[in-house]
Amino acid sequence: MTLVGSKQVRVGTIDELKSRGCIVVSGDGHAIAVFHNDGGAFAVDNRCPHMGFPLEKGTVRDGILTCHWHHARFDLCSGGTFDPFADDVAAFNVTVSEGVVWVDPSPTPKDRVEHWHSRLKVGLEDNNRLIIAKSVLGLDSVGCEYTAALKAGTNFGMIYSNEGWGQAMSILTCAGNLLPDLDEGDRLLAMYQGLRHVAMECAGKPPRFVVDPLPAGETRPEVFNKWFRSFVEVRNEDGAERCLRSAIDVGLSQSDISDMLFAAITDHIYLDSGHTLDFVNKAFELLDHIGWDQAGPVLSSLVHGMVTARRSEELSSWRSPIDISSLVWKARKALPSALEEGQTRKVKWDKEDDLSDVILGECPSASLDAIIESISEGASPEQMGSAVAYAAFLRMARFHTSNEFNDWDTVHNTLTAANAVHQALKRAPTMFLLRAVLDTTMSIYLDRFLNVPAQKIPESSGIESDIDDTVQSLLDLMNMQHNVEETSALIAGALTDEGNGDRIIAALGHAMLREDSGFHLFQIMEAAIQQYRGRRGTHSGTDVLIGMSRFLAAHTPTSRAVGQTFMIAQRLHLGEALYADETADE
Ligand code: FES
Repeated sequence: MTLVGSKQVRVGTIDELKSRGCIVVSGDGHAIAVFHNDGGAFAVDNRCPHMGFPLEKGTVRDGILTCHWHHARFDLCSGGTFDPFADDVAAFNVTVSEGVVWVDPSPTPKDRVEHWHSRLKVGLEDNNRLIIAKSVLGLDSVGCEYTAALKAGTNFGMIYSNEGWGQAMSILTCAGNLLPDLDEGDRLLAMYQGLRHVAMECAGKPPRFVVDPLPAGETRPEVFNKWFRSFVEVRNEDGAERCLRSAIDVGLSQSDISDMLFAAITDHIYLDSGHTLDFVNKAFELLDHIGWDQAGPVLSSLVHGMVTARRSEELSSWRSPIDISSLVWKARKALPSALEEGQTRKVKWDKEDDLSDVILGECPSASLDAIIESISEGASPEQMGSAVAYAAFLRMARFHTSNEFNDWDTVHNTLTAANAVHQALKRAPTMFLLRAVLDTTMSIYLDRFLNVPAQKIPESSGIESDIDDTVQSLLDLMNMQHNVEETSALIAGALTDEGNGDRIIAALGHAMLREDSGFHLFQIMEAAIQQYRGRRGTHSGTDVLIGMSRFLAAHTPTSRAVGQTFMIAQRLHLGEALYADETADE
């Protein structure tokens, strides 16, 4: 047998291999470790697939190669691993001819798309963020759209979170929503952060058993709407889920389905401090990314949260010393006639900022009256959502750091609820969601003492500075704790030039993604960007980003462990060595 002229690489004689145990050769861009075992020769890529350490330094026993860094074990013959955290190592064909060992440096070809999908599944199942990071990078490198990772995370999250839609699915959706506003280098980091939250939230949880739709029969939207609301009213989860699945299955329109959900959510006041509505809105946003064909599993995952939600009329803070709940019920009754009157108006209503000021006032009934009056003057539902969202961001911009640290979260919750109502109103400008405007207005009222004293919103110094320097200063400020006011002053200055908005948003996105960011940071970042889009170049747009940047500055830096894992995955993906060979300089 002759090997002359082929691309096979000569390793040495079988006797040499036996005496040395392992010989490393190069071929076709690979460092290949060839091992002797039980009279035969076996070749694998010398880079451990886990973190790239050299397998030549491993140990072979009974046909199993062990890498000593994290003890991953591989079948020497096939390269398959016994430790899924590491992945299979590429194996190469070896031939022994006339006592000489040859290796073919071309590994067996693999379907890379299938490979990275399957690795992402392993990463999610094992709650292993390094595998998730590698898979996100891998899927991107083989040309998959971001939606591939989003769909994989959704499929996993819908099955393995037995309590249904939770914070992690919202984070994943926020990550998808943020992508267009991030620097290119941060987009995969955002997807990785979203997916690792899904894996963490599902870790150790039993699967969710999904209810089948009813047999063919009812198709009328109004009947499903009535059934669904009555099941949610009495907290009947199975009934509500089967009703919703059936309504989707018979092909009711997105608008009919959103009416069912938003009506049921607003039949009571401010469910779970606005979280329930926020989750439903996020689920619709996720479906915008991955397609309505996933509506069954995605939307039915919301039902558990809807039927178990706390209703704010049950809370003492909504009952005493002022019975705010009664004020809300009264204002809700006035909505239909106000809407009807507003539809007759021919003049465009444009008093959003004035309304936001009233909403921030001291009198709850005056705030509710102002909303009803604005609607009767012709304000659109979407404008009402916008006014409430802006007021909520002003609470954050004026939040004083003399408050207790957890109070940031109180203002944050109202702010994200207000943004959710606004985004939902863009999708479904209905009376049901106007009820949520009234609820959220009362939450802003309840937070009023967190603006006592009110932090002054900074003015620009008027001194223009280079945007690159500003971005760097912003990131430097967030390398240290409590630079809240310095950060907001920097933002105020930078945004006097409208053209800086995109750079500032991308920089804030980077500042958030380099941290071990959780639910609240993702939520506020995404809410601020959504609000800023419609306010670019206005003082209210600046106020929104000031509010968000103050919250971010108050919560950074973290230990940044999550980002370090992603950096390791990036270096491995680029083929860089993490392993420093101490003998290299000798
Ligand atoms: S097990 Fe080989 S590098 Fe970690």
